[in-house]
Amino acid sequence: MLEELSQLQQDGLRELQAMAGSAELPVWYRTYLGRKGRLTDVLRGLGKLSADERPEAGKRGNEVKQVLEEAFLRRQDEIREAELQASMHSGAVDVTLPGRPVAPGHLHLSIRTLRKIRAIFAEMGFQVYDSPEIDTDENNFELLNIPPYHPARDMWDTFWVNDQVVLRTHTSPGQIRCMREYHPQPIRVILPGKCYRYEQITPRSEHQFFQVEGLAVGHHIRLTDLIGTMSEFARKMYGAERRMRIRSSYFPFTEPSIEVDMDCILCRGAGCRVCKHTGWLEVAGAGMVHPVVLRNGGYDAEEWSGFAFGMGVERPAMLQHGIEDIRYFYNNDLRFLQQF
Ligand code: DAH
Repeated sequence: MLEELSQLQQDGLRELQAMAGSAELPVWYRTYLGRKGRLTDVLRGLGKLSADERPEAGKRGNEVKQVLEEAFLRRQDEIREAELQASMHSGAVDVTLPGRPVAPGHLHLSIRTLRKIRAIFAEMGFQVYDSPEIDTDENNFELLNIPPYHPARDMWDTFWVNDQVVLRTHTSPGQIRCMREYHPQPIRVILPGKCYRYEQITPRSEHQFFQVEGLAVGHHIRLTDLIGTMSEFARKMYGAERRMRIRSSYFPFTEPSIEVDMDCILCRGAGCRVCKHTGWLEVAGAGMVHPVVLRNGGYDAEEWSGFAFGMGVERPAMLQHGIEDIRYFYNNDLRFLQQF
């Protein structure tokens, strides 16, 4: 068998050298190293050898295999390079052919929705105020009128970096940062960004999501200004025929607090699975900025008033596109992302 193997190696190397073009490469590979090739054939004889001959024959078999594999790869490069050179010299390469297009990708659905929201508020004179995703307990809770013992904290359980620092649970802490930077001037901003909550992940809730906060502070700002702003937004975002309704609600940082709903964009108020047969969808939590919060921001609450709102970004996108599971936004599956 040792002789057979040596013969095989010799034959293989010789034929490789003699090879004229790349078309012969796969043929050679099949003949020598393929599943039904010569090497397999020879090695099949291993079983018939005596126990003391077998180890050496096996070892030699592996050697031959390795030698031939390496020689094949080297020769393959050589032949391909030679053919490339030849074709370039013979003018067979058409350099005027257009290049291969690079797929440019596109914006994520959350970002596109966010930009649409931003554009609508920009038309109404709102600037964008950026604030960090990692913030203090003070900004995220305390200065928003949610002291440590307050039960409302349960609504916003979050990821703690340490005792004083959290991944923000909502975009509301940006209100404090913005007011402290701009007081005593009037404010009209939106604060878009990522928020985090320690949350059981389900089709309807993720532990990370986008929100857009809004804040207006000025003289004589009233609840009707808030309602007007919200209905203008809903019309521009979802269509001119939208109807809105206001419910009273509770947030520690607003007084009074409201919940803004609009008629369901799918069933137009008739009631369906999406709106849980109520005919209405939640658009935002909102209210008049609480005097304590105004004061924490540096404004005299006797003189100044303001409204604030906070809305989700994924939810409206889900409604608009009939997406049934919020988890699709974050598991990076191109089959989902490419649809939008
Ligand atoms: N921060 C609230 C949340 O995440 C949403 C919210 C409600 C923001 C009322 C506001 C507001 O600015 O006035 O649930």
